[in-house]
Amino acid sequence: MRPFTIAVAGKGGTGKTTLAALIVDRLRRVGPVLAVDADPNCNLGEVLGIPVERTLGQLRDEILENLSDLPPGVPKDQILELGLHECLVEDEGVDLLTMGHGEGPRCYCMVNHVLRRAIETLRGNYRYVVLDNEAGMEHLSRRTTQDVDVLLVVAEPNPVSLRSAARIRGVAEELKLRVYGQYLVLNRTGEETLQGLEGLIREVDIPLLGTVPYDPGVAELSAAGRPLRELPPDSPARRAVEGILERLGLGKEG
Ligand SMILES: Nc1ncnc2c1ncn2[C@@H]1O[C@H](COP(=O)(O)OP(=O)(O)O)[C@@H](O)[C@H]1O
Ligand SMILES: [Mg+2]
Repeated sequence: MRPFTIAVAGKGGTGKTTLAALIVDRLRRVGPVLAVDADPNCNLGEVLGIPVERTLGQLRDEILENLSDLPPGVPKDQILELGLHECLVEDEGVDLLTMGHGEGPRCYCMVNHVLRRAIETLRGNYRYVVLDNEAGMEHLSRRTTQDVDVLLVVAEPNPVSLRSAARIRGVAEELKLRVYGQYLVLNRTGEETLQGLEGLIREVDIPLLGTVPYDPGVAELSAAGRPLRELPPDSPARRAVEGILERLGLGKEG
């Protein structure tokens, strides 16, 4: 079974992690979700309320450090796969994998290659994969991610943010990623804010899937360093994300 993969991209601070966490919270109720934090400034675990002990970046460094000490005949990919499972944090309906970043100027090619393969295999166990990307979409470009069913480009309702959304669309096209659908999501945006932005949105040239309003509950939890799972079910941001998922035909039982 190939999981349905949603990747969230956008400039730093636009609300990628918030959106990814709200999507995960919704989808984990209907099917197992693999949540991947692909931002080196990883905080998806924190926002989800899932403690992360080890990142893939740390695993990669440990393995490279000990490579020469490994007894001969031990297949390196087996060690990596074992390590990968140690990096996977299990929670109800969701497993979280945090990419993190490696230290030092080393060649990661071999390790990256093996990890990528292991993640591809791992993906098969889930109904959904949700990727919180770094702003520059480096991980997408390094093909940590293959087939993306839906790329959500998050932006805020101002010219600077919308222009950077347009650049992300360009990057995705240049990389010839296998992205099957690309949509714009405007965060901190009320319906009334949309008026007057139509021209700019048309220029971005990514179909607008929906808006998420400013939600004081989200801001308060974030300021207190508390996870979004404490956000009430009827909160504006949650309801907006439910609507967005429904428009994608996702989040329903069955
Ligand atoms: N709709 C919203 N309403 C209120 N606060 C928000 C909303 N979206 C994001 N935030 C806050 O804005 C900050 C940046 O959001 P975040 O999701 O971390 O952005 P990114 O992952 O793109 O860097 C966080 O403190 C978050 O709680
Ligand atoms: Mg983030």
